[in-house]
Amino acid sequence: MPHPSADIIPRDLRFEIERHADAGWMGGDVLHSILIDSFAVMLPVGERFFIRSLRHYEARIPDAFIKLGIQGYASQEAFHTREHESYNRGMRALGYDPDSINERLRRLLPGSGKPFQSLLITCAIEHLTYSLSCVILNNPRLMAEAIPAYRDLWTWHALEEIEHANVALAVLEEADRNLPAWKRYLGRCIAMNIVVVKFAREALRNAHAMKRVAGIRPGWKSWSRFAWLMFGKPGWFWRYALILLAYYRPGYGRGHSGDNRLIATGRARLAELLAQRQQPA
Ligand SMILES: [Fe+2]
Ligand SMILES: [Fe+2]
Repeated sequence: MPHPSADIIPRDLRFEIERHADAGWMGGDVLHSILIDSFAVMLPVGERFFIRSLRHYEARIPDAFIKLGIQGYASQEAFHTREHESYNRGMRALGYDPDSINERLRRLLPGSGKPFQSLLITCAIEHLTYSLSCVILNNPRLMAEAIPAYRDLWTWHALEEIEHANVALAVLEEADRNLPAWKRYLGRCIAMNIVVVKFAREALRNAHAMKRVAGIRPGWKSWSRFAWLMFGKPGWFWRYALILLAYYRPGYGRGHSGDNRLIATGRARLAELLAQRQQPA
């Protein structure tokens, strides 16, 4: 497996989404914004859970490079949590209810007494965020019309998700060395199946609640437009699904092809966006 800590650079950046909160941040398209917000709203609770899951194994893993990877991972995710809390305060100001959504999510995630289950779930959700990040960095036009604060936050988040994509899987390989590889593989696949079903259900539920607050009638018209965004144009689902499916390959995690290129692209893009932020309006 490639060195899991080599590419991890925690960047203490602030995007102040709370100050720029806008229901139609995605180029004025409220429904398209909700498609992303219905997932984004769950990140603060999710990311705290991931950090706890990996930290649990930190002291037990002898490999110094993986330990460094966990530390870099935890720093990146802590900054993400802080910025997504600001994002959620922005949602609250728009009338959405991130608190009950996150309360429900807390009940869905395994408790601290189930470290291995938590690690499997973390690996699966990390792969979902990794897949979304690949889509964002591979298709900069998707967010070209977005409000700059949101666009910059998603570019930063996507880059760091790809930088730390190997850490959780490296921890999984070390966490229970006595476990036969086929059992670890099976656990990984089952956890991903559970996560996909539960997350899709939660995201749809969140989207439904957000649409009502945003004054969008919840009938077939809005759902078919939603489906069009997923399967038609821009077709988030198709862009996402192929990357997601790679997780089911036995041995997946021993290096993601194309990541170095994507990290270089992401770093250049982020540097460009940060330089733009410094220019007087
Ligand atoms: Fe993150
Ligand atoms: Fe992550």
